Amino acid sequence: MNNFYITTPIYYVNDQPHIGHAYTSVACDVLARFKRLSGNNVKFLTGTDEHGQKVEKSADAAGVAPQTFVDGVSQSFRNLTALMNISNDDFIRTTEPRHIKSAQALWKKMQDNGHIYLGAYSGWYSVRDEAYYQESELVNGLAPTGAAVEWVEEPSYFFNLSKWQDKLLEFYEQNQNFIAPESRRNEIISFVKGGLKDLSISRTTFSWGIPVPGQEGQKDKHIMYVWLDALANYLSALGYPDKNSQDYIDFWQNSYSMHMVGKDIIRFHTVYWPAFLMAAELPLPKRIFAHGWWTIEGEKMSKSLGNAIAPASLVEEFGLDQTRWFLMREVPFGNDGNFSRDRMIAVINSELANNIGNLVQRTLSMVAKNCGGKVPDANGVDKDEIDMSFLYKIYVTEDNTPKDIDKKYMGCKFNDIMADIVAISSEANNYIDNKAPWKQKKIDERLMNATLYHLLEGIRCIAIMIQPFIPASSSKILNLLSIPIDKRGFGYLSSDHALLPGTALPPPEPVFPRFAEKGV
Ligand code: MSP
Repeated sequence: MNNFYITTPIYYVNDQPHIGHAYTSVACDVLARFKRLSGNNVKFLTGTDEHGQKVEKSADAAGVAPQTFVDGVSQSFRNLTALMNISNDDFIRTTEPRHIKSAQALWKKMQDNGHIYLGAYSGWYSVRDEAYYQESELVNGLAPTGAAVEWVEEPSYFFNLSKWQDKLLEFYEQNQNFIAPESRRNEIISFVKGGLKDLSISRTTFSWGIPVPGQEGQKDKHIMYVWLDALANYLSALGYPDKNSQDYIDFWQNSYSMHMVGKDIIRFHTVYWPAFLMAAELPLPKRIFAHGWWTIEGEKMSKSLGNAIAPASLVEEFGLDQTRWFLMREVPFGNDGNFSRDRMIAVINSELANNIGNLVQRTLSMVAKNCGGKVPDANGVDKDEIDMSFLYKIYVTEDNTPKDIDKKYMGCKFNDIMADIVAISSEANNYIDNKAPWKQKKIDERLMNATLYHLLEGIRCIAIMIQPFIPASSSKILNLLSIPIDKRGFGYLSSDHALLPGTALPPPEPVFPRFAEKGV
């Protein structure tokens, strides 16, 4: 069994969750579910990033103590996982003792290895981005992200990042798949080639953070830079610094480990994080995949525009799986995308209601009416070319092996995978129309039975394949086919595991209602 570790970024608790956060979490969930259904040992981690100036300021603005504030917002992110049916195995909070202990141990290790020194920082800092910027990076007095910057002068510990430039470049060279997509990889390589400056990794002018270890008796109390604190979460959830912890062994030392991030935080994950890990002599993750950003009806999503969409409002209006489907289907993963209500309605109606939903509804109601509510028998009827070509498309065969599917998932080609599934469903709808089982019934019932059997097999395969994207609806379809839970993995996508004729089926129920605007 292969070990697979997948993580979302941990979310800042300065504000309530929006669809950008739901997007990252659903993408990781799709991968986690796919890997589990393919027989892997999976650990899926998400959580909240609760320290730093940004969060401290939000707590101040809300007039509550930081801990009370973060407890509340962190809970909203935990609720988001339930709302979006996210199958995370753990939820880490950076204010938890297990994380504090782990982040301090990581610091200590980097320090003991001689990579941290005390100095003083003077330069620009953006609280919104929680990032340091050089004078040369500013655009009209703002960070390149458009965030405000402030001048900071304070004693600070530094990490000797400049020393890691060649090692990082060598690592990217030797691990071509470390940064994805390709365009981001090129961007990071040229950034690192441009030269790295040592990184300030502690702050002294506020206190909402993890204390730097071993500074007892010093004048200025240092707290860790929030990004060093935050990145350590990927290790703290695995029991680090206990290297004998089973999770650490399985998911850090001997796993395919992947961090999913938005394009805005790729530098922290592909430059700082690997350098910290090298400095601490720890293994590096295998892959960092950066996805794009959503705009809303063509506009940047922002607090000031007040246009952020709460995932709960989409789920309430359109349904959970409809929301998950649209988020993964609308844009190639890695590109930016635009959220438009009209597109959402068009996509869920055409692909879920009119295509897959219609296929399931038509087939199951014919089976209920004409086959006594049991899986019909196709035996004794010779397959013609139409049958053969349809069956070839639905089953995993030699040229459509699970390995190819795995490659697509690992490349995060979610919208392609979904398009393939929709195409199979369209084929199945064409197959019904071509075969016209309602006509076959009048000629010879055995012909109708064979057609309906092949259609049920098509639905079985489609339902297995869509599980990572829309787990609740696919499980409903698989229940309507009376398929036991332990026969729903990707290993069952072949004719060897076909439905048994005579199996009783429950009464059919609609799976994807057509969405109609109220009053239309
Ligand atoms: N706390 C850091 C991550 C630390 S990981 C060690 C952080 N948090 S965040 O809450 O600001 O962002 C979390 C994720 O949400 C990021 O991957 C970010 O790209 C994503 N998104 C935020 N807004 C988004 C959109 N408008 N569209 C898509 N994703 C967006 O960064």
